[in-house]
Amino acid sequence: MGWRDRGVEVKAPEQVASMRAAGLVVCRTLEVLRGAVRPGVTTRELNEIADDAIRTAGAVPSFLGYQGYPASICTSVNDEVVHGIPGDRELREGDLLSIDCGAIVDGWHGDAAVTVPVGEVGEDLLTLVADTEAALWAGIAAARVGGRVGDISAAVEGRLREEGRYGIVEDYTGHGIGTAMHQPPDVPNVGRPGRGARLVPGLALAVEPMVTLGGHETEVLADEWTVVTADGSWAAHVEHTFALTERGAWVLTAPDGGEERLSALGMPYGGD
Ligand code: MF3
Ligand code: CO
Repeated sequence: MGWRDRGVEVKAPEQVASMRAAGLVVCRTLEVLRGAVRPGVTTRELNEIADDAIRTAGAVPSFLGYQGYPASICTSVNDEVVHGIPGDRELREGDLLSIDCGAIVDGWHGDAAVTVPVGEVGEDLLTLVADTEAALWAGIAAARVGGRVGDISAAVEGRLREEGRYGIVEDYTGHGIGTAMHQPPDVPNVGRPGRGARLVPGLALAVEPMVTLGGHETEVLADEWTVVTADGSWAAHVEHTFALTERGAWVLTAPDGGEERLSALGMPYGGD
């Protein structure tokens, strides 16, 4: 085990199966929220819907109280990148909303995010979201047993650079996940293949590209949580939790475990 692999939590197959339960609560909650997003709804109302959905499923919202965080989801609007706090803000037609959600089942964590247009939005925003999602899936599809975390980072970055005009946020990264929401290793959204921690069966990672229509630099607002772009450009953020099995990647926060998108990328599906 090299220094890069220190502190990595390797899960047994039955532990990965427990993480799937948490992942399904997160993805079902995000689907409910997706259906609730419309002009006029407040981010606080979305938080209440999410908190209800998570608890009704018998799970615990992992964000609430995390380092003092005051809500069960993050809602980041327009130039807000991540960690926006739900509140009185009413969503408006044309806004772009990122919703990040985490849940715990039997001590195991799931963490995922979607970016959702509010009503009709500009074509540039739809393309931004589609490219950010494609980068997330390219990253997951680059994960194989015996590879390195840098393979994932390089795939995310490569897919975004193909479009040539995005800012890729580097101040925040994806992460290992399991009995805690944030574990080693970090999973940056830029990097080089063959670098970083080794990818072994039983490793679970959250991959979460944060992509802007402008520059990559960010600032934190006075609330000490909300991360915004330094240049005011709008941003998208999507995230999935996946586990690497002997057979391939199992996307624990996707309804179908990632089978469809991974197959389309020529990657074996590691789910059950
Ligand atoms: N889900 C976020 C992440 O992917 C963490 C949210 S921070 C919290 O790292 F404080 F809101 F929990
Ligand atoms: Co995360």
